Parts: sequence; C-alpha cells; structure tokens
Amino acid sequence: MITQDIYVNRRNLLKRQIGSGVILLLGNNESPRNFADNVFPFRQDSSFLYFSGIAEPGLALIIDADSGEEILFGNDSEINQAIWTGALPRLKEKSAKAGIAKAESFDRLLVRIKQVMSNDRVVHFLPPYSPDRCLLLHNLLGIKTSMLASAASGVLMQAVVEQRQYKSEEEITEIEHAVNVSVDMHEAAMRMVRPGITERDVVAEVTRVALADSAGLSFQVIGTINGQILHNHDYSHRLEDGQLFLLDAGAESAAGYAGDLSSTFPVSRSFSPEQRDVYEICLASHEAAIAELRPGVAFKSVYYKAARTIMEGMKDMKLVKGNLDDALAAGAHAMFFPCGLGHMLGLDVHDMEDIGEQLVGWGQEPRPVQFGIRSLRLGKILQPGFVLTIEPGIYFIPELIDLWRKEKINHQFLDFDQIEKFRSFGGIRNEENFLITETSYRLLGKKKPKTVAEVEQIRQSV
Ligand code: GLY
Ligand code: MN
Repeated sequence: MITQDIYVNRRNLLKRQIGSGVILLLGNNESPRNFADNVFPFRQDSSFLYFSGIAEPGLALIIDADSGEEILFGNDSEINQAIWTGALPRLKEKSAKAGIAKAESFDRLLVRIKQVMSNDRVVHFLPPYSPDRCLLLHNLLGIKTSMLASAASGVLMQAVVEQRQYKSEEEITEIEHAVNVSVDMHEAAMRMVRPGITERDVVAEVTRVALADSAGLSFQVIGTINGQILHNHDYSHRLEDGQLFLLDAGAESAAGYAGDLSSTFPVSRSFSPEQRDVYEICLASHEAAIAELRPGVAFKSVYYKAARTIMEGMKDMKLVKGNLDDALAAGAHAMFFPCGLGHMLGLDVHDMEDIGEQLVGWGQEPRPVQFGIRSLRLGKILQPGFVLTIEPGIYFIPELIDLWRKEKINHQFLDFDQIEKFRSFGGIRNEENFLITETSYRLLGKKKPKTVAEVEQIRQSV
C-alpha cells in the first residue's frame, strides 16, 4: 500500500531536487464525450497521482521549493451535485489524506500564481497534454498555448523522471497485482476464442475480468485477428478457423499502476505449421531479449538482439538473404519488426510518455531517426528499479511490403517473392513485464502461457 508518508517523502525530495521556485502540478478534469454530463471514465494525471495519491478530478497543487509550503486547490461539491454523485470527500479531507497542510478554493490558484510571478519567481510546470490544461496554464501564466510544451520546466521534467523511473517495493506490489489480473484476462481470452464469435465478444470478456478484479483497464484493449495493425481498435470481425488472434491488454491496480501483456493464439485448437514456425521465431526473439536484461546494458542493444533473432529466423525461412550485420545496420528488420521492443511501465502504460520519450527513454543519447528503431520508446542504459516491457513482434504489413518492393527498399536483404506468400499472415507478439534488479531481472506477476505447448494446452482443454 502506498501510504501518506510516501507521498510526503516524494514531495520533499522533489523540493530538494528543484531547489528554488514554485512547482505547479495540475490534476485532470472530467472529459465530456458528447455533452458535459456524459463523461469518459476519469483518470487522474499520473504525476499528480504520484505526488499526492489523490485520484479525484478538478484539483491543482502548488509546492513551494523555497519555503516548503504546499497548497491543494479545488472546490467542494455543492448539494446539487451530491444528489447526482453522492457525497464526495471535502477538499480539506483530500488534502489531509495526502498530508498537504493547506487547502484553498480553485479561484485562489490564479491569485497565488500572480503573487509568485510578481515576485519574479519561477513557476515550474510539466508539458500539458489536454486542451483544458493548456487553457488553464495559458490563463495562469499568460503563455501562448502553442508555446506551453517548450516553456515547460526542464528541471521539473528531469526531477519527476528521476523519481518515477525507479519503482519502490510498494509500487512493484501494485504492478504485480495489475500483471496478475492481466494474465487472467489473457487466459480467459485464450480459453474463449472459437470460430463464430466476434473480436468484440473476446474484448468484452477481457474487460469483464479486468473490472471484476482490478480498477479496470490500463489502456484500450487491442483484440484482433489483424495483429499486423499494431494498435488496432477495430473489433468488428467474426473469428474463423485458421486465424491468429492477437490480444494486447492490461489491468490497472487500485493505486493506478499498469500491467501490459500481449499474447497471440490460434482460433483453432492448434497453430498451423506455418504459424508455429513464425511464432517460434518471435518467441525466440522474446527470450533472447529477456536474457540480455541486467543493469548497465543499453536497451538499444537489447532491441538489436531481438531484431537479430528475428532476422536469423527469417533467413532460415528464406525470406531474408545476405549479411545480417549489414541488414540490421540498414534497418531491413523493420520490414517485419517496424516498432520498438518495449517501454517503461508504471502509473502509465507507457510510463511518463507525457514528459517526453527523449528524456524518459533515451536521456542524453539522441533518439535514432531510422525507420523502425525510431519507434523504440526506450533505448537508455538499464538501472535497478526500472520496470519495462519486452514485446518483440513479427508483422506482415501488406502496405509496407508493397511500398518497399516498389521503391526497392532493402531489396538486397529481402526476398519479396517469398515475403509476398505471407501477405495475409497477420502479426504475432508476446509481451511480458520485468523489473531490473541489482544483478539481472525478475518477471513481474505470474507466468503467462507463451510457449506453443502452453498455448495449445489451453486451446485444447476447452
Ligand atoms: N500495450 C500497448 C503498447 O505497448 O503500445
Ligand atoms: Mn506494451
């Protein structure tokens, strides 16, 4: 459990890291779907959550790094609102729970910020990602909305990443709970797929398991027979014998921590020989990447290990030719693996992505621009306490095959006639979550079925 003293300690450390000025952390607001009272499920901003533990909408927090003063801003709900929502905690109760000494109404935030600015003191804020927070920051600070991202405080961004990238024992307990529920979601899907039902039926069951045992989903479910579309949210297809089903889904723990797993399994009771061959290559890549995990290793090199394993398998299958070092340097592996290998995981499924992938995933090292590796969200040197995903995939993307063939991209390494035979194959991905320990790594949560034998055993037991 993440207790009040942990939130207090995080804020005290933040003050020491920042040294001087006022830190402004904005919570999220309700977000309307189609009219004001019909809202999307509320999710608190993760940095606000990390430093306060308060999951309700309509709040802001200022932390004075010089005086140490902390003030929570918000409004108490009125009787009219309580009729519809039930009694909500008072602002004072929220601040007391977080160990924040002062609470003031939201309109006082503008007064306070104006005071700070009139004294020529710096207001540190994180890059905003929602229109309402952009507008609020514009009104508070007078900065054009288009300039807010570049005006965000580099010192604060760095300090938040410095804290949030190392997961504590309590956070790991939360993530493991989320992963365990995620494993149940995946096993439920593996048991239920069969010809005749729809993708939507599977997504409904996966969502049911998440809601029954956790705070819900950590991101929108990807549940599809078109696994080659990496973030596919179309659930309209009916399942047929011979297809592969790709599920990428995770639960969120009560305190807001994410699980993020992917599995690929046959709609029939077993893989076809061709599906098994590609699946084994994808799994070998997954295992090769895991074997590299330890402190001091750059995740970029783990990515190349995974990519090389895919290319070796593809060469055995005669889809790839030539020297593999040259092929990897040229980015030819992106024909099958056009995305990253994994990302940080924590309060966000792509942890801290709002603060910036460069800072979070690459630090001082410039992010590569080559197609394929440019989608790698994490490249930097691994350290104990990092939590990350490993999720290599093999995808046959008709549009990419056509483009590379037409433009002769990497044609010296790719046999397009052979690749063409896999045009309607789809995509395969396995994904698990890991903690980097002092000496190596630890799989988080219980084991997910992933070998051919484990997956087919489930498929044949129903
Ligand atoms: N689970 C979705 C992703 O990692 O992008
Ligand atoms: Mn992922």
